[in-house]
Amino acid sequence: MQFTYHAPLAKELFLLDPNIVFLNHGSFGATPLPVFEKYQWWQRELEHQPVEFLGRRFNELMREARVALAQYIHTDADNLVYVSNATMGLNIVARSLRLEPGDEILTTDHEYGALDRTWHFICRKTHAVYKHQTIPVPVTTADDFVERFWSAVTPRTRGVFLSHITSPTALIFPVQEICRRARQAGIISIIDGAHSIGQIPLNLEELGADFYSSNLHKWLCCPKGSAFLYARREMQPLVEPLVVSWGYESDYPSSSRFIDEQEWTGTRDIAAFLTTPEAIKFYEAHCWGTVRTQCHSLAQYARERITALTHLPPLSPDSTDWYMQMFTVPLPLCDAKQLKSRLYDEFHIEVPIITRQNQPFIRASIQAYNTLDDVEQLVNALNKLSK
Ligand SMILES: Cc1ncc(COP(=O)(O)O)c(C=O)c1O
Repeated sequence: MQFTYHAPLAKELFLLDPNIVFLNHGSFGATPLPVFEKYQWWQRELEHQPVEFLGRRFNELMREARVALAQYIHTDADNLVYVSNATMGLNIVARSLRLEPGDEILTTDHEYGALDRTWHFICRKTHAVYKHQTIPVPVTTADDFVERFWSAVTPRTRGVFLSHITSPTALIFPVQEICRRARQAGIISIIDGAHSIGQIPLNLEELGADFYSSNLHKWLCCPKGSAFLYARREMQPLVEPLVVSWGYESDYPSSSRFIDEQEWTGTRDIAAFLTTPEAIKFYEAHCWGTVRTQCHSLAQYARERITALTHLPPLSPDSTDWYMQMFTVPLPLCDAKQLKSRLYDEFHIEVPIITRQNQPFIRASIQAYNTLDDVEQLVNALNKLSK
């Protein structure tokens, strides 16, 4: 298989350990140096005069950071708030819904474990039902996906909850059509976009979700502890604060109760949030549309190489409709935990090996710093360890 590839960015531009083949951007991201430097600059700015920074400049600084993010994802700055991570953003939504006994939240069997737990917790308290619709792999067409998912909607369905890009299977789900149908049916749509921003273009107005949360610290390469929660304007009155602080019954209300209640949740380091405009600038300066297309071509090559080795079919057609910079493929039966440890201990390769429905899988992430050699090292290691 002849394939030439030049990594769009040098690994030295990131703070990553040069001795590790890092194929797991998907778990916690990695931040480029100029963005990290801006983050530390904000931290110093805060420490220089904490009262001026948090007491007087807070609202204006947070608003500027929201405006830059809102422009990038095509919505209004008052429709989103910064939160520490997608888990928190989605907890805010889940815990705000007034579910009644017997109400159903429809989801898929590809969701992130921590969020499955969130919904179990809510449903245990409210006697609502968290209902998983099976989405068999390999997936085939968007229509087939939508029909299959939608066939599990009942008159008791209050909400649909699904990932835009799934964690275990790394698949891009066609969520826009689900959101459209949900809106038409009066069902609340809640999208877990933890892996989306930065990896795929995002237009929240077009997408039409009622609620959407994405991590900025994954594929937008922001510092850790940065994410956003979007709430469609009409849905904002539904949202309660997870942490009640001064913004509740504010003495100085702004035009948005949603922003007042969610933005100030007590004293915290907001440097990671304020760094978002810098990350967006970095992406624009590096023509990120091209970068992600290049990364996809390496992901595509890696997927082909691994499936050629295992003779096991990939989870989706070979299309950017289904995967972008991250892919999951099955592995022959093995001890997944041991394989992951051996890849790391013997080959210095950081890559997740997971077990799903008793089948081991590998999920590889390709970011701008990954090289063809990273992929070759992974394929060679898998080959050696399979013998
Ligand atoms: C699909 C999905 N949702 C939510 C999360 C949670 O992210 P965080 O721990 O940053 O809240 C992850 C993390 O990997 C994820 O993959």
